[in-house]
Amino acid sequence: MSKKTVTITNNWTGKQVDLPLVEGSQGPYGIDVRPLYSELGLLAYDPGFFSTASCSSQITYIDGEEGVLQYRGYPVEQLAEQSNFLETAYLLMYGELPTLTQLSAFRTQICHHTMINESLKNFFHGFHYDAHPMAVMVGVVGSLSAFYHDSLDIRDPEHREVSAHRMIAKMPTIAAASYKHTIGEPFVYPRNDLDYCGNFLNMMFSTPCEPYPMDPLKEKALNLLFILHMDHEQNASSATVRLAGSSQANPFACIAAGIASLWGPAHGGANEAVLEMLEQIGTPERVPEFIRRAKDKEDPFRLMGFGHRVYKNYDPRARLIRKTCHEVLAQVAPDAYNPIFELALKLEELARSDDYFIERNLYPNVDFYSGIIYRALGIPNNMFTVMFAIARTVGWVSHWMEMMGDPGQRIGRPRQVYTGATERVYCPIERR
Ligand code: CMC
Repeated sequence: MSKKTVTITNNWTGKQVDLPLVEGSQGPYGIDVRPLYSELGLLAYDPGFFSTASCSSQITYIDGEEGVLQYRGYPVEQLAEQSNFLETAYLLMYGELPTLTQLSAFRTQICHHTMINESLKNFFHGFHYDAHPMAVMVGVVGSLSAFYHDSLDIRDPEHREVSAHRMIAKMPTIAAASYKHTIGEPFVYPRNDLDYCGNFLNMMFSTPCEPYPMDPLKEKALNLLFILHMDHEQNASSATVRLAGSSQANPFACIAAGIASLWGPAHGGANEAVLEMLEQIGTPERVPEFIRRAKDKEDPFRLMGFGHRVYKNYDPRARLIRKTCHEVLAQVAPDAYNPIFELALKLEELARSDDYFIERNLYPNVDFYSGIIYRALGIPNNMFTVMFAIARTVGWVSHWMEMMGDPGQRIGRPRQVYTGATERVYCPIERR
């Protein structure tokens, strides 16, 4: 069978090159453009990566047209409703669902690393009490690079694995400590007798004088949110982790880079911005005014939690989170939270019946409804993106391990089309 290729002709010079197609297991083919430069002296130009596959990966599959999201082939809806955090984390990291024995060993490994070094606590005290928790996360997670010298040989698969376990284990401890710092309460040590999500809630809300009354519904809701946020193929933060890691930087620094990228309002920071937007809108009567503003190109306002680079259909995560909002809010203080949920539903209804949003395929994304559940769990707005970071750490370490385990791995080094000044002669300052 002949090899599948695409022929590119440079109409200017008449030169041609046959570029091989790269076939995946599902989804579009890629074109291997690497010979473009050597054969034609041309570069592929795609700022924003609209049509560029930066790597091949076996972890997550998205079909944006159909609204499909799969982790290692399993639909995310099945995992969110039937699996739990550590089982899905194992699946993402190792490629298969674990047996009981494998899951138990994995849980033991993660529990072994949940504490943070006592001296790491001093880092938190260097931050002002009103520091944004994401700023604290970037700093403290990056500072983990200064510990664990025993396992920083990134060429050693066992070192890579223990670093990945450490990050999954310590992220909730660091996140809860960044919250406790802002409210002036003592840090709560992790409890390994609790599940991953229960342990996080306990570290957030218990104090030395009051235990946290564990609510299975809240634990279940958090489990679902964390699974839905765990991975999303080559999003900005995962691509950042890969690019940082491609230079063989240590893994804690790479994850800190991922957290920094996630923080932006076009990415994970949108969940915090959605709640701010809903609070600003205030009442259902004001929704049309904000829809008008979102459509006005002169106005920088956008509907936060709407639109996605890949989904041109309903984001399957948003659908499930919306359904969970109904369940959680019905049972957890409905009077306090229903008005904001109703406002969000109204906003979705009006936006989805408006030609601007229909023509551009703008649907609610994962960030639109997630904050409403977080708030019902007692999580403050400025911790929403931190919640995203805890879950996405699993995706980040899975991508990092996949990349570092590839014997053909090379430094990521994008090129550019230069549009600056051409060569000119230096002019001494007194003659300028
Ligand atoms: N409100 C109003 N108009 C929008 C919105 C929005 N939320 N999103 C996109 N558009 C318009 C945009 O103005 C453009 O219109 P036109 O073709 O007339 O110029 C068109 O839709 C295409 O938008 P784009 O900005 O070129 O699309 P993109 O793929 O570069 O950006 C996005 C994707 C998610 C950054 C963008 O939709 C957005 O800013 N959404 C709001 C922020 C948000 O919710 N981010 C979370 C993303 S999902 C979770 C995650 O990644 O963490």
